[in-house]
Amino acid sequence: MELRYGTQIITPATDETVLQALTRQGVALRSSCRGGVCQTCVMRCLEGEIPGRAQSGLSTDLISQRYFMPCVCKPSGDMVLAPPLADDFFVPAQLEQRLDDERGIMFMFEPMRTLPTSILAVIVRDSWGHKARFSLATRPDVDFYFGIHLPAYDVSELAEQWRQSLQVGMQIDMREALPSEDIAQLPASDRPKDPPPDPELWEALGEGALMTPILEDFYTRVYADPQLMSFFSGVTRQRLVEKQYSFLHQAITGNKVYFGNRPRNTHHWMVISDALMDHREQLMLDCMRAHGLAEKWVERWRLIEEYYRPDIVKSAPVPRRVDGVDLPLEGFEELVIDVGSICDGCGSVLEPGETVRYHVRRGTIYCSRCNTRVPANPQASSPDESL
Ligand code: HEM
Ligand code: FES
Repeated sequence: MELRYGTQIITPATDETVLQALTRQGVALRSSCRGGVCQTCVMRCLEGEIPGRAQSGLSTDLISQRYFMPCVCKPSGDMVLAPPLADDFFVPAQLEQRLDDERGIMFMFEPMRTLPTSILAVIVRDSWGHKARFSLATRPDVDFYFGIHLPAYDVSELAEQWRQSLQVGMQIDMREALPSEDIAQLPASDRPKDPPPDPELWEALGEGALMTPILEDFYTRVYADPQLMSFFSGVTRQRLVEKQYSFLHQAITGNKVYFGNRPRNTHHWMVISDALMDHREQLMLDCMRAHGLAEKWVERWRLIEEYYRPDIVKSAPVPRRVDGVDLPLEGFEELVIDVGSICDGCGSVLEPGETVRYHVRRGTIYCSRCNTRVPANPQASSPDESL
């Protein structure tokens, strides 16, 4: 069985997904949940059979254009693969409301075909041929419309045209902004990194005694939750309970007891929408209530966690930042290992001194026995190149 991607030919191992096989061979692909939920990894199959599960949740348009999710695709035969074409994702949207005031104009659009309501930013293409990126000014999952705000100070050609001519009832094309078109949503630099401590909440939690059973219950539910579980593969539940306990202990009391990563760095690669964050929050609230925590304290705990939303919610991975320096986000490096290890591709035992291919974000290593066919050339295979 063979997978073709550009000039690369890859033989998938038994039980390997397309994403695993391509990653093992040094193809730099975008991915996040690796469980068929977030659609970050979506790509095209030009030839060959696509197993049904690999298209589950995709729009009928994308299915008809042979898009699929390689992270949940175990190939059943040869496949010819290609990166996504951004403009396949445009849908027509109708202007339903136009609200003008002194700060600018709010345009409320309704897409005429399905557009994911969890998205944070869109690319628009109007009938005058302008194309531009906007962060959404509304939350389509809550208030239904895809709202775009055109500030009064914007004097671009698109802005002038829209101000004069874009009226209710007219149509534009709209699509989700892809990660390569994204401006990372980072918290304002003048914002304190933690919320104000809440010693009364800590006391209400029995100096933390009530927190452990709540967190144990919470992570049991998270690990069984179809929308959340795939983010957590490879991490033990107990480790998370302990980390989360000391993180919250520090956030609630202000005492320096947490020695893990900050939320922005921990979640840097996770594509987490507001809707997914809300869903996680609901699980957390259910657990607090199930353990008898009074509503007043449930809300105070919720506010502590809510403070970190801008660090966590984003529509594309952001690089880890250490001492103000951004670390590489994607791609591979050749590495000589100085201690023995196990290959993440084929499970072979690796001796100190061996050269391996190293995935910089996930930290996985692949030995020369399972990636010999084509030398690594992440530039040539980046999915962004077609955009
Ligand atoms: C949908 C929302 C969220 C998802 C999918 C998520 C997912 C994850 C995952 C997969 C890890 C394990 C990372 C690893 O060890 O490699 C993790 C760790 C962690 N998360 Fe979240 N998380 C979410 C929201 C939050 C929120 C709201 C907070 C804070 C209130 C938080 C705080 C932490 C902390 C403190 C760790 C441990 C960091 C460390 O190991 O150094 N997470 N999260
Ligand atoms: S759907 Fe494939 S990485 Fe999330």
